[in-house]
Order: sequence, then C-alpha cells, then structure tokens
Amino acid sequence: MDYFAYRQGHLYCEAVAVEDIVREAGTPTYIYSRATLTEHYRRIAAAFAAVNPLICYSVKSCGNLALLRVLRELGSGFDVVSGGELFRVLQAGGEPGKIVFAGVGKTDQEINQALAADIGWFNIESEEEFWNLERLAAAQGRTVRGALRINPDISSRGTHRKTLTGKKETKFGVDIERAAELFEQARGASHARLTGLHLHIGSPILSPQPYVEAIGKALALIEKVRGGGVLVDTLDIGGGFAAFYEGHEAPRAVDYAAAIVPLLQERSLRIILEPGRSISCNAGILLTRVQYTKRGGRRKFVIVDAAMNDLIRPTLYESYHFIWPANPGPAREPANRLSTLRISGDEQVDVVGPICESGDYLARDRWLPAVKRGDLVAVFSAGAYGFTMSSQYNARPRAAEVLVEGGQWRVIRRRETYQDLIAGEV
Ligand code: LLP
Repeated sequence: MDYFAYRQGHLYCEAVAVEDIVREAGTPTYIYSRATLTEHYRRIAAAFAAVNPLICYSVKSCGNLALLRVLRELGSGFDVVSGGELFRVLQAGGEPGKIVFAGVGKTDQEINQALAADIGWFNIESEEEFWNLERLAAAQGRTVRGALRINPDISSRGTHRKTLTGKKETKFGVDIERAAELFEQARGASHARLTGLHLHIGSPILSPQPYVEAIGKALALIEKVRGGGVLVDTLDIGGGFAAFYEGHEAPRAVDYAAAIVPLLQERSLRIILEPGRSISCNAGILLTRVQYTKRGGRRKFVIVDAAMNDLIRPTLYESYHFIWPANPGPAREPANRLSTLRISGDEQVDVVGPICESGDYLARDRWLPAVKRGDLVAVFSAGAYGFTMSSQYNARPRAAEVLVEGGQWRVIRRRETYQDLIAGEV
C-alpha cells in the first residue's frame, strides 16, 4: 500500500506529478510520500495495539530529519546503531527515553554520548560491552537500562545471507545458551541494569514463523531467568518486517501481529518493535532520467543518471526493484507491480548507471516499454536502504531528497555540489 499511482499515463506521488518535482529538483532524486510513511507506521501500531508496543523506527533504513520528525510526531521512538544516528534523532527532536541503541562495536565515545543523552535502552551485544557500559555509567554517576541481545539461532528462508542476523556464528548478540549466566553475573553491576532481552533475526523476514520460533525461545529464557530471581521486564523483538518489492508478496503488519501478539499478551513485558523497511521502503522512489540507450552484443542497455552509488541494493544483494517509465502514457500504466503485461514494442533491457563497474546496474533483463533519451524512469520501493546506503563513489554528488505532503512538495536534502565532495579535505 502506497501513495504512488499512475493517472492518465503520468506517475503521481500523492497529488503531485513527479515530473513537476524533478523539473525543478533535477535527477536523480529520492521522492518520499508523507501519507505512505504515516500509514505504515499507523498500521503497525494498530496491528500490535493489544500489547501496546513502543515502536522504535529503525533510522538506518531512512534517516532524513524531515522523516524522523514526521515519525516523532506520530509518537515513534527510534532504533539507532551509531553516535551519528543518535545525533540525527536528537536533532529531529526525538525523545531520548524512546531510543534504543544497538550495535556490536559501540565505542566509549558513543556510549558516553548516549549516557549523556539519557537514552531508553542499550541493546547489549556482548559480555565485554556490558561491563564497559557499567564502568562508563558509574563514571558518569548514571543508572542505565540494558537489554541483552540474544542470538536465537533461527534461519529464515529468502533472507539474503548478508542480512540474516539471528543465526549462530553471525557476529550479533550472545549465544542463547550463555544468556542466563550473563543475566546472573550482571546482578553484580551497580549502574547498568540488565532488565531486557533483545533479538533481531534478520531483514527482511518473509513470514511470521521465524518470529514465532525466536520469541518462543526468548520467552523460555525469560521464564528461566525470572525463576532465578532476576527482574526482566522488556522484550525487544527487533525489526525485519517485509515490504513490497515485486507485488503484494509480503505479509502485512496484521499478518505478523496475528502470529506474534498472542505469544506476548499477559507476560508483564514491555514490548519494543524496531521496524525500518516496513515503514520506509514503499514510502520512497528514486527518480532518474535516461541519458542514452545502446546495444552491446545481444543486450540492450538503458543508461540512466542514477547509479550504484545512489542505490546499491541490486548490486550488493541482487535485489529486485520494480522499474517503470514515469510518463508511459495511459495505455502503458502498470496495472500493479506483478502484472506488467508485455506488449509488442516492449524491450528486454538492462537498466544501468554511468559508474565504471559492470556491477553498476539497477535491473537486468527487465521488460520495459521502449524508452528514449530524456525519459524519466521511476525505481520503486527505494525508501529503505536507498539514500542511507548511498555514497559519492566516482565523485558523484549524492542525490536530492524530496518530501511530498498532499499537493505540496519540498526539498528535504539539497543535491550535493562539487564543493560538498571536497569539503572535508585539508
Ligand atoms: N533492528 C536491528 C537491530 C537491525 O539490525 C535492523 C536492520 C533493524 C532493526 C531494521 O530492520 P528492517 O525492519 O528495516 O528490516 N541494507 C539491507 C538491510 C540491512 C538491515 C540491517 N539491520 C537491505 O538493503 O536490504
């Protein structure tokens, strides 16, 4: 569900034709829909209402301040994984008490920064980290809450190996077998209180089942630890809910909730969720312009002005992003993202960027209506891990970001300039 739709052959974001935006803002540009962002947040909140969760939006998926402000106004907390993300959230006016901080390698400087900000929870990824937090909290004379990230040793079908995190022998969390002992030892700490359990099994998790398994293991552990007299009052089940890339293939918030909520009710636990992609992915597209088309052997290439530095997911994970011309004419509007009927004159193409690597593509072997130099092309489902993973590779200034609100739009991050490329160099 999103607010990007074709009308009379032109792509709109909410009530604005995207061609009107890029006439001023240029290409490549990320365009976000506020209504979509809001709706996805609300759907998760409504689906899980029975356990009254704290939703901590995962900043890494899309961290522009304007989007963080929208979510903050809806009541969202935030999941951060670096001092930089914490800085962003505070700049956007995020409530410190609703921030969770995860990550296997938090530096002393980042921990001190988070202590000073008085964040809600530190998600602890190792024993050594816990005792370091205790030491630094004591030095600042503060008492803090920690949630131990366990590795539940769960795999999930269809999750890329580079984004699967809940399997043994990934670097995340502590083995579930050692967790009870760690809770026991943590009772000896005076400033860091280990009162929560955290897990995040991967991203995206394409069915509710792996959550059911992982939460089952977590609840058994909580019971065991509580049996030993240790207080555990918080369970953070992480992120990983899927989004729509190829059609309407992913479970919805209500589908995940139907399986998960019954497990969590009446457990006397504060429940935290860390959704990123399921909120931001379908709230953004990347708009790019065709520079040239050409043939190479039997392949046809559509060369656009967005590249792997703007959107690295196809290159890095072989991810599929639906791509379609922004102004295909009324006859060629895609019915939905699965049934793009092929008609005569359509062409099978590789959509590629200008970067000097053959891995620089946005799509391969894709059937599209014929496009020509100057046409606009939209890359869908680009709101999550799009701009945040972008770089300046090949000395390409980063794209602009635009937020649409009904019939209005505004630039929320200006396109970088050549001066930005060299700004930090001394
Ligand atoms: N919580 C933790 C601890 C995480 O590590 C992540 C994502 C999330 C929450 C949010 O997951 P989400 O709800 O967005 O699935 N760059 C990859 C995805 C990496 C995800 C990393 N961790 C991609 O483009 O698919």
